[in-house]
Amino acid sequence: MVRTEKKISQQEADQQTSFMEMVRKRNDAFFAKTGRHKKFYSLAMGCQMNAHDSEKLEGMLTRMGYEMTQEEMEADLIIYNTCCVRENAELKVYGKLGALKAYKRTHPDVLICLCGCMMQQETVLETLRSKYRHVDIVFGTFNLYKFPELLETRLECGETIYDIWQEHGEIVEDLPQIRHFHHKASVNIMFGCNNFCSYCIVPYVRGRERSRLPEDIVAEVQCLANDGVKEIMLLGQNVNSYGKTLEQPISFAKLLEMVHEVEGIERIRFMSSHPKDLSDELIETMARLPKVCKNLHLPVQSGSSSLLDKMNRHYTKEDYLHLVEKIRSAMPEITLSTDIMVGFPGETEEDFQETLDVVKKARYSTAFTFIYSKRTGTPAAVMENQVPEGVVKDRFSRLLETLDAVIYQENERFIGKTLPVLAEEVSKHDASILTGRTESNLLVHFQGDQGLIGQTVPVRLMENKTYYVLGKRVE
Ligand code: 5AD
Ligand code: SF4
Repeated sequence: MVRTEKKISQQEADQQTSFMEMVRKRNDAFFAKTGRHKKFYSLAMGCQMNAHDSEKLEGMLTRMGYEMTQEEMEADLIIYNTCCVRENAELKVYGKLGALKAYKRTHPDVLICLCGCMMQQETVLETLRSKYRHVDIVFGTFNLYKFPELLETRLECGETIYDIWQEHGEIVEDLPQIRHFHHKASVNIMFGCNNFCSYCIVPYVRGRERSRLPEDIVAEVQCLANDGVKEIMLLGQNVNSYGKTLEQPISFAKLLEMVHEVEGIERIRFMSSHPKDLSDELIETMARLPKVCKNLHLPVQSGSSSLLDKMNRHYTKEDYLHLVEKIRSAMPEITLSTDIMVGFPGETEEDFQETLDVVKKARYSTAFTFIYSKRTGTPAAVMENQVPEGVVKDRFSRLLETLDAVIYQENERFIGKTLPVLAEEVSKHDASILTGRTESNLLVHFQGDQGLIGQTVPVRLMENKTYYVLGKRVE
């Protein structure tokens, strides 16, 4: 029952609010004694979903009286929200934990907290228990909302806490969150994944697909709009299957229509879209709704139909290119981005050539490129013909070369045009330069005053730098 779910979720949220108050009291007392606020350092690794989860953790910590710091070595509490999609991400966590041993020795009161996808794996927990005993709190992807309770318990009892759930409970609404940008925000619309691509660990660590109720999503977007947010990113592992498991099923396209109604929101983006589930209804809706950005992230992974089959992707190269054509003919102005992997087990030079062919035909404007990483527990980990490292590296650099040329060409069609750019931040290299994005998600650098941040201004796009464009504000 929808209503019961809501009630349980509310009880959970209320309980965590009281734990937040308890920690806050401790921190207020600390401030009264020392005249300083305790500080936290937060690091999100991996995907946008993790980045957004960290915004919630940061919101909770702020509500509990901690101040955020960018200096890890002055923090009283350190929290890493980990990723396990590739091995490198895991090695980075172990490396950083090793470095924290010395810090903890000189600052024994510092709390080290770990959460996120990596913690959902038994082998990781074993390693932490045996080799990284200086970690204080460990939790996973399903109980993030319980962080205040775990923290209060750790502070009260002084013992290490491991709390990992194997499956999800209710979706808990209304967690506090800190936004990294004033004018744009992410909104979860669903959690988990049911696709089981053969290389991917996500379905094992984030559980089965479950969608938030549309009214909860719209209410959150409305709140964000009231708070000055102009652009929202709707997040899910596969937004195209949004709403299918709700008691009253609803399509993602219908959700877009509802979100589109929210006054104050100027731009709507979403990710990720699995090509196998992208409906005609969605294409038609995207094309019709002006606030929906004409920019689509459509992970291809590989251009080889036989590899796509082994990856369990449920489409062929031809299906994918046909879909791209359909999308481009409905929205000629659209830009596409993608995820591509090289070195999947059994990948031959011919398979790789098919990938390069798709890159040229689909004409991407951005691509996230990955070297296949073997993940224990996934079907691909035990497949034969793992590709030698040297071959993979060579393919990877040829892929980047091809992409550079394609991306440059795609940007060219915007050069000379004047387009609305939403100014996002001051350039890290030059304080007189602002960076912003066009509707098509093209990164633009242009001269401008800080006061423009959060505003949409017309910018003439002048010079193509492949990964960004230089522009000039048109007064
Ligand atoms: N190795 C390399 N890349 C991977 N991805 C997912 N699993 C792996 C893996 N085992 C990539 C896919 C996915 C993106 C989020 O991460 O391209 O779309
Ligand atoms: Fe992983 Fe595939 Fe699910 Fe994406 S759709 S999270 S690649 S299993």
